[in-house]
Amino acid sequence: MERDWTRKAVSAEEAVGLMQSGMNLFVHGAAATPTPLLKAMVGQKALEGVRLYHIHTTGETPFVEPGCEGRFFSVSFFTGASLRKPIEEGRADFMPIFLSDIPALFHSGRIRLDVALLQLSPPDKHGFCTLGTSVDTAKAAADSARVIIAEINEQMPRSHGNSVVPFERVAAFIHTDRPLIEQHPEPETEVEARIGEIVAGLVEDGSTLQMGIGAIPDAALLRLREKRDLGIHTEMFSDRVVELYEAGAITNRFKNVHPHRIVTSFVSGTKKLFRFVDDNSLVEFHPCDRTNNTSLIRRNDKVVAINSCLQVDLTGQVCADSIGHRIYSGIGGQMDFIRGAALSRGGKPILALRSTAAGGKISRIVPELSPGAGVVTTRGHVHWMITEYGAVNLHGMTLRERGNALISIAHPDFRAELARALGAIRRFTVTGLG
Ligand code: COA
Repeated sequence: MERDWTRKAVSAEEAVGLMQSGMNLFVHGAAATPTPLLKAMVGQKALEGVRLYHIHTTGETPFVEPGCEGRFFSVSFFTGASLRKPIEEGRADFMPIFLSDIPALFHSGRIRLDVALLQLSPPDKHGFCTLGTSVDTAKAAADSARVIIAEINEQMPRSHGNSVVPFERVAAFIHTDRPLIEQHPEPETEVEARIGEIVAGLVEDGSTLQMGIGAIPDAALLRLREKRDLGIHTEMFSDRVVELYEAGAITNRFKNVHPHRIVTSFVSGTKKLFRFVDDNSLVEFHPCDRTNNTSLIRRNDKVVAINSCLQVDLTGQVCADSIGHRIYSGIGGQMDFIRGAALSRGGKPILALRSTAAGGKISRIVPELSPGAGVVTTRGHVHWMITEYGAVNLHGMTLRERGNALISIAHPDFRAELARALGAIRRFTVTGLG
């Protein structure tokens, strides 16, 4: 590897000059979003009809600003705050898809990628960059796109696992030295703390954990410090896992797949987390068709999948990606892990949610999902449901039992109303109202 590889760096304008109208692009997501390249791309006034595929990005989204209609069209596989409105207004679109299925879209050519826009760690002495904090869908994009245009950032951690991109594969790159965008955990609320306690009570020593996005999985992690020999096999993790590791709760000893390693496909958090994963053999990053492969997940024993959701009906149909028709996030890895945990020996698939939304005005446990709400976890797949009022396991329960169980963990203000609705739908009387 040539020592002074930086001499080959070009300006952002020159780098994106390799793009042409009508191309399909992959955009690296989460903390690895290559913002300077996105800005330069939008500055190329001649470009039009460019389609961008990505999971949630961080930072600015210049490609959906006014004036970009017809020039750039964003398709989220999983979305975040900045793209919710453009999707709602039809200026961008969303694809409902399991995270585990996205790599095959690229490998199979169902989505033909012309360009992968990536943010990479600097090449090592052998000539290899890495995908840093986000390997997830990016590895398949890096392997299948005709051209890679990169931001090589001195501050992008070097990640271990299946994360490598040969420097010679990069057609053009800019060289930066900028901090990654951080996500700081919000202070938890009382309700989240209570839910965290209930979830943590279900986790046994020696369990292998997956935790989804949001305050509730974080609240559960905060309460696992006294546990022993936990393992991590997940699609993403945040600073809370680092704290748990520092507390001595994680050894990965009892994992059957990638034992002694924390396995993930991306990370999202603060500088502390980025430092933790940098050049750390403990943490293996893999593409999400591996981390989220149900047949691998189930091979670990006592898999506890801790995910969150937005709404659940009285039969156990779980909406996690939209509020009515309004797309909020995505399917992500919820089903991959809920099913994987259900199939694991001693596994516990958990969905936890606050009992209400909108400052207590709306129950999230409802007789029927809102029109447009997407079922992410079906009533056939659902097991543990948890609110701040308790935990129920719907698996093996009839419709009547499920209705009763879910009403028992609804907010007390809504229980009578839910009981009436259930009685009307199912024609039976609800028992044990609190
Ligand atoms: N009706 C109306 N509004 C609702 C609502 C409902 N039923 N449910 C939630 N909301 C509102 C909340 O009040 C909140 O609004 P606010 O931001 O103004 O307070 C907002 O929607 C978000 O809800 P919240 O429960 O706080 O979301 P979260 O940040 O905890 O994330 C999910 C929860 C479900 C969106 C997130 O876990 C997710 O995307 N899951 C799907 C993918 C997945 O599980 N992947 C697994 C591995 S990452």
